[in-house]
This record gives sequence, structure tokens and C-alpha cells, in this order.
Amino acid sequence: MLSFVEQPSRWAWAEVDLDAVAYNVTSLIDSVAPASVWAVVKADAYGHGAVPVATEAIAAGADGLCVALVSEGVELRRAGIDTPILVLSEQPPETIADLLEYRLTPTVYSPDGLSALLSVAAGPVGFHLKVDTGMQRVGIQPDALDAFLDTVADTGGRARIVGLSSHLATADEPDHPALVTQIELFERLVDQVLEHGAVDPDQVVVHLANSAAALAHRRAHRSVVRTGIALYGISPGPALAAQAQLLRPVLSLRARVSMLKTVRAGTSISYGHRHRFERDTAVATIPIGYADGVRRQLSATGAEVLIGGHRHRIVGVVTMDQLMVDIGDQAVSVGDEVVLIGTQGHETIRAEEWAERLDTIGYEVVCGIGPRIERVLRPSIRT
Ligand SMILES: Cc1ncc(COP(=O)(O)O)c(C=O)c1O
Repeated sequence: MLSFVEQPSRWAWAEVDLDAVAYNVTSLIDSVAPASVWAVVKADAYGHGAVPVATEAIAAGADGLCVALVSEGVELRRAGIDTPILVLSEQPPETIADLLEYRLTPTVYSPDGLSALLSVAAGPVGFHLKVDTGMQRVGIQPDALDAFLDTVADTGGRARIVGLSSHLATADEPDHPALVTQIELFERLVDQVLEHGAVDPDQVVVHLANSAAALAHRRAHRSVVRTGIALYGISPGPALAAQAQLLRPVLSLRARVSMLKTVRAGTSISYGHRHRFERDTAVATIPIGYADGVRRQLSATGAEVLIGGHRHRIVGVVTMDQLMVDIGDQAVSVGDEVVLIGTQGHETIRAEEWAERLDTIGYEVVCGIGPRIERVLRPSIRT
């Protein structure tokens, strides 16, 4: 569980810029209209804080929210959020009572999932049907669709399809051939569902696009786009970096210098003594480590932090709670602010920079910033 504070209790914290969330939501709404935007706030809003991000996104015009787990939807409802909340995959039967009690919208794609839902629901229940168009993760297989629609029809109105969805596997690679294949298959399957007569075409919400498709593939927009990473101002992948530059990064990761020393040429540092200084220099210790999401291998990739608006390299392996930085001859004091992700002066380190160094994606960088890092909301009070 993340904690939100006005004043961090340690010299390492994350700041979450809610104005940037509002800006990103508004930009997305403008660019995908007439489709509407549903904010994907699973995994604690990708490490940014589900309740504050969801609240901000709704205030900025998002029409719905998406979560991965029933417990995530329950948290939002308990915080007083009344907007539609879609649970993106089928969930364990033991969570269905909560799902219904808290008015979450289920996604269903199997006969077992449907009967589990109906065995708990007292009255008619609406659900989104997810079809697998090529992600091969979850969703009904196209050749099983007609039989499933018959099963739904046989419930005599107890189960109602109120949404149709699928998920794209390669939207962040605009030239990947699977992208168009998936979009075309989805279009055919939507027609198949409508022709079957199992849904009311005026009532059903149709959605396929994630952030990458929302930013770059208008044909995938349909009635709703489900955007996660774009809300947080992070690019879905290198091919969409230009589009993401128009968004504002929401999260910054900050710390303070906790100790300073000078070291002589020939000195080695940190576990394994993997870094050896070639010259006399100064070293700053920063009290944040891999238990907070600053991955151990970052130093081996040449990763840097910002101090006084200048880039400085992390030296030696990152330890669990602390890391060290070569600050050369820059004048630095204990307590000076360090930016690991974010902007200081004219320099910026984006989550995408870490992602590239770590051979991963920006999603994993921000989701990896652990609960020991308190989140400071900016602005702290909404008027
Ligand atoms: C089913 C589904 N829809 C939408 C999203 C949002 O994707 P993105 O963060 O790329 O916008 C996700 C995220 O993983 C997802 O699993």
C-alpha cells in the first residue's frame, strides 16, 4: 500500500504531479474524440497512487476507470469514486461477491467465468466480453464466440453484454503486421456479435486501444480508449517517443545527499568492488536503493542522477538502501536534492531513459518504485 505524505519521512521520495495527470487526460480526450477516455489505474496507477490519479483523471474528463483486481476497484469505491470501473480480466470466484457489491463491471470470456458470475448475482448482470484477437493472453477464442453468445442468450437476460473488447499485442510498434491483423479481426468479431443479436448496438461500449493505439492508430479508437501509460506521461515504447513528448511526465523520484567524501585514485567502491576510481574525486551517498526500485544493474549501464542541475554517474553497484555517485569537483552539500527521475535545472532524466538502460519499458520502471517510497502529491491540496 502506498503512503501519501506532505513531508517525506526519509531522504528519498516520489512526487506525483496531479496537474500533469489532468493535462495528459485533457490532451488524450482532445486527440481521441469522439471516443472517450477510460483511465487505467491498475497496479496503484502504475505506482503513482490509484485514488489521487483516478480522482484527477475523472475531474479532467475521463469517463471510466480500469483495474486488474477486484480489490483495486473496491479501494476506489471506498474512496467515494462513483465512475464506472471495469475489471479487465476474469477474477477468482471468491471475489465476485465484492465485485457485485461494489458495482464493478466484470470482463468475461469463458463459460466458467459466466456461470461463476451468475451463481453469485441475484439479478441481471452486465459484463464486457473480451475476445482474443491475437494477444493470446485472455479472451474468448474467435471460433468459440458463437457458442458463447448462444450461452449468453440462453440466460434469458440474466447476463447482458454491455461491452466488447480486445487487447493489442504490438500497438507500440506501428509497422508490426500483427497490429492491422488484430484491428481487422476485432472489427469482424464486433460485427459477428452485433449480427447474432446478443447485444443492443446502441448500448454496447466497444474498446480496443491502449495508449499506443490511442496516440497513433485512430482506426483502433472505437467508442472508448483504455489509456494507462500515456496518463502518466510516459511513452509506450521507443517508436512513440515523439507523441509521448507532447505529454507531461507525472512522477519524479527524488532524494537528498546523505554523506560526502573524497576518494583517492585506485579506490574501489560498493559490493564486489566493481568500480575503481581512476582519479581523485568526490563521492556522494544517496539513501535510496534497489529495495525502492532503483535497480541494481543501473550503475553498470552508466546511469546518472541530477545534482545541482548536472548529471553525475552512479558508481559501484546499487545496494539495497543506498547508492553512490561520482560528483567530481562539483560543490555539493549533505541535504542537497538529487533527482533520479525528473527535471532539475535544464536537465531531465525520464523513466524511458532508465527503461532503455535496463532493456525494459517505462511501465516496469514506475511500477517498480516500491511502497517504501512515500508519494508527495503536487499540488497537495485541490481547491
Ligand atoms: C487490457 C488492458 N488494457 C489497457 C491497458 C493499458 O495499456 P497502456 O498502459 O499501454 O495504455 C492494459 C495495460 O497493461 C491492459 O492490460
